[in-house]
Amino acid sequence: MMPTASTQAAAAPSRVALRGDLLYLRADPGVDPDAGACVHFEPDGWLLLEGGRVAALRAGDDPPGPEWPREDWRGHLLLPGFIDTHVHAPQLDVMASYGSELLQWLQRYTFPAESRWADARHAASGARRFVRALLAHGTTSAMVFPTVHRASVDALFAAAREQGMCLVSGKVLMDRNAPEDLRDDVEQAERECRALIQDWHGQGRLRYALTPRFAPTSSDAQLALCGRLLGEPMPRGGPLYLQTHVAENRDEVRWMRELYPASRSYLDVYAAFGLLGRRSVFAHGIWLDDTDRALLAERGSTVAFSPSSNLFLGSGLFDWARADAAGMRVAVASDVGAGTSLCQARSLGDAYKVLALQGQRLSAWRGLYAVTRGAAAALDLEGELGHFEPGAWGDVVVWRWASGDVQRHRVELARDLHERVFAWMHLADERNVAAVYVAGRRADLREQSDHALAA
Ligand code: GUN
Ligand code: ZN
Repeated sequence: MMPTASTQAAAAPSRVALRGDLLYLRADPGVDPDAGACVHFEPDGWLLLEGGRVAALRAGDDPPGPEWPREDWRGHLLLPGFIDTHVHAPQLDVMASYGSELLQWLQRYTFPAESRWADARHAASGARRFVRALLAHGTTSAMVFPTVHRASVDALFAAAREQGMCLVSGKVLMDRNAPEDLRDDVEQAERECRALIQDWHGQGRLRYALTPRFAPTSSDAQLALCGRLLGEPMPRGGPLYLQTHVAENRDEVRWMRELYPASRSYLDVYAAFGLLGRRSVFAHGIWLDDTDRALLAERGSTVAFSPSSNLFLGSGLFDWARADAAGMRVAVASDVGAGTSLCQARSLGDAYKVLALQGQRLSAWRGLYAVTRGAAAALDLEGELGHFEPGAWGDVVVWRWASGDVQRHRVELARDLHERVFAWMHLADERNVAAVYVAGRRADLREQSDHALAA
């Protein structure tokens, strides 16, 4: 039987050698499915994890010595844990809610769900459920929106720390155009942000992100506060992060034009407050223009393309080719709960379809890059996340190449590696997850109900 999460931490092995089909991306492969040089594939290889990090990757005929405990995942696909650059913890409660576009969906479903996180016990259980669900879906790191409540941030960071995960998050800021019980003000925002930054930023693998929900719900004074805090040097963890939404939905963009008639664009409002940097992630970016894209590229900011959400809310089709032409960074995200799955393999399947509708293509290599190494680069953590090079964190997901006969049949018919991984990317989901390692330690993926049964 698996040990519980708390006993596991104490029992974390300092060394383990994982055997299986190892795959990671060395660089952005671009749109070319033949970009083999960017792909490191070691069939039936060895991944040596020591002290929570990758010590070495070795070929199958070069096994480690007897001092290495082994875990045998032959016939499985071992990938770096997926990284979700845009997801909302409290929105597990509203996934798959019927019938509205963004602004009505926020009012009707999302804000009421977020209000419930005012209760610290509700937030704690919701945060634990969310973090465990991320892992069970093959995601080992994420940039996450909690709620406006300080307790929601504490709960989320505490749950991630319990699992040893890298998590970037911060209190949602909203001081206008939001329900009374979800609003803060500039003074409260500054006080709570400073306290949370002090408590969490740079603690182990946790990082703080300033999180104005989007410009319509933050006053100019609150956006200016974000700009000021972003510029402040931090004693640990490097500069702060910023996460928000931009240009997702046509009504939202129209509303922004009314709120900021003098601004050239929606993105320019954020730029004017100094919010664009290499640690800034903007969700969606569907209705940007080329000037916006060039500005994002120049500042090294990332757009989190969230195809499941964009399809579900009917927000529009993200144009990756134009983003490429501008040299803009793109990662792929779930955006649960407008997105309908936490599984990033599902996000990639949806991304392919969104691009196909525009005559564009997403190779398996580029897709995987966008949820591993590319997403790590978006978080300014490429040196230690999203790949299997020595020194990277031992965040590994063991995937079944196939779950069930239909998947097995299709994957076995593949004629080359790209075809095989591409079929896997479209057909796999969380049921294909066999095991997850976070910083070299195997996570306990049993469902809450299994725990109850075992108790
Ligand atoms: N824009 C502002 N808030 C949200 C949110 O919670 N979800 C999505 N998809 N877009 C937003
Ligand atoms: Zn979102």
